[in-house]
Amino acid sequence: MTHPTFPEGFWWGAATSAYQIEGAVDEGGRSPSIWDVYSHTPGKTLGGDTGDVAADHYHRLEEDVALMGWLGLDAYRFSIAWPRLIPDGVGDVNPAGAEFYRRLCRLLREEGIVPVATLYHWDLPQILQEQGGWAASESPEWFARYAEAAHQTLGDLVDVWATINEPWCAAFLGHSAGVHAPGATDPAVAHRVAHRLLVGHHRAAGVIKKRAPEHRVGIVLNLIPAWPAVDDPRDAEAADRVDLIQNRLFLEGALRGGVPDEVSDICRVLGVEEDPGELETHFTPSDYLGVNYYNVNRIAYRRGAPSPAEWPGADEAVLVPPSGPVTAMGWGIDPDGLTWMLRRVSDAYPDLPLFITENGAAFEDRPVGGRIDDQPRVDYLSAHVAAAGEAIEAGVDLRGYFVWSLLDNFEWSYGYSKTFGLFYVDRRTLDRSPKASAYWYRDLIRSGINGGGTC
Ligand code: FCB
Repeated sequence: MTHPTFPEGFWWGAATSAYQIEGAVDEGGRSPSIWDVYSHTPGKTLGGDTGDVAADHYHRLEEDVALMGWLGLDAYRFSIAWPRLIPDGVGDVNPAGAEFYRRLCRLLREEGIVPVATLYHWDLPQILQEQGGWAASESPEWFARYAEAAHQTLGDLVDVWATINEPWCAAFLGHSAGVHAPGATDPAVAHRVAHRLLVGHHRAAGVIKKRAPEHRVGIVLNLIPAWPAVDDPRDAEAADRVDLIQNRLFLEGALRGGVPDEVSDICRVLGVEEDPGELETHFTPSDYLGVNYYNVNRIAYRRGAPSPAEWPGADEAVLVPPSGPVTAMGWGIDPDGLTWMLRRVSDAYPDLPLFITENGAAFEDRPVGGRIDDQPRVDYLSAHVAAAGEAIEAGVDLRGYFVWSLLDNFEWSYGYSKTFGLFYVDRRTLDRSPKASAYWYRDLIRSGINGGGTC
């Protein structure tokens, strides 16, 4: 398959996050995070799985960077575990934690792989949760201090930064639906958290830009198209209400420093008192936007239905199961939705470089005679790469594509039951083996359809 549309310097990458791969949760001075507490709470994750061991990346750093080198990655997106870097949440940097991430970045650079660091991929130090977590007024200040420390630690090795991964998940899955840490189920708190995460984003981005104006800083949003289930104006309106909470709240908050009026109305009804001016005060222009894309949500109008827990305020809207083929997550397969979303963002926020910071799929991976022939994943990935190419042809300034994920890992409340990796991880031995998708991705990168690493 050739993709003549990919520009010189386009990055082919892979992504992971700290809690999902590192393990070693009580080694090297790391303190517990909200995900340690949540995953150890009976009934919260499938089979009671936890990230205690995860993919044991903490002990296999060299091996894992070598896998990236074998793939020929241009860039690697990882996250820093806040409780590993600053075990007290706001105190001193933990030298062992700092050294672990410095070693990772040095190894990456030796391989010619650009490190892209995410500051927050959901693992808030538990000690801060005990002081109110993201709902606390001080949370953006804590986050800004952490950003400062992270930049002080890694700023000579990393020049592309993401502040927060998928604030919608952290806010609404974590505080309203209760299916992510810390497991709260209060829509008002969730809206408050969404606001404080956005303020935190601007404050952290501001800190980094002040320290190094030439560094690139952005946020990573999981933008999920909310499309009407059928061609009906009432479904379209319901879908629009979901789109507001899923997408516009975060796009507007991050990229314009504003709160959409409809969100202010919802907050008023819920009794959430947040000063929208705070976003404006701390507004820091983004150098890029990271888009995580997996699927499309199809939404129908249902008279009298309460708003779904994950979209509080989207009344009379229900999620309709996909009608076509699905991945092991039950998510539909809609590469068109990727092109559509990239074009929409690029039209609404022109002159903003975009990266696809996550895209991938879970399928049942069964090793047969030592081989994992994950053709469905290859099909999924190549269709989405093609969809990304279409967006570029349509004029979108897309700079890179990161597969989720480098290797099988702890898939949050699904534990180890869902695997997204290019590399299979044997749960007993933790040995890594390339799946067919890893060979496919390596060939794609080798085919020379980009200039490599000069983006
Ligand atoms: C995203 C998360 C990532 C992973 C994928 C499947 O929402 O950012 O950690 O769980 O989904």
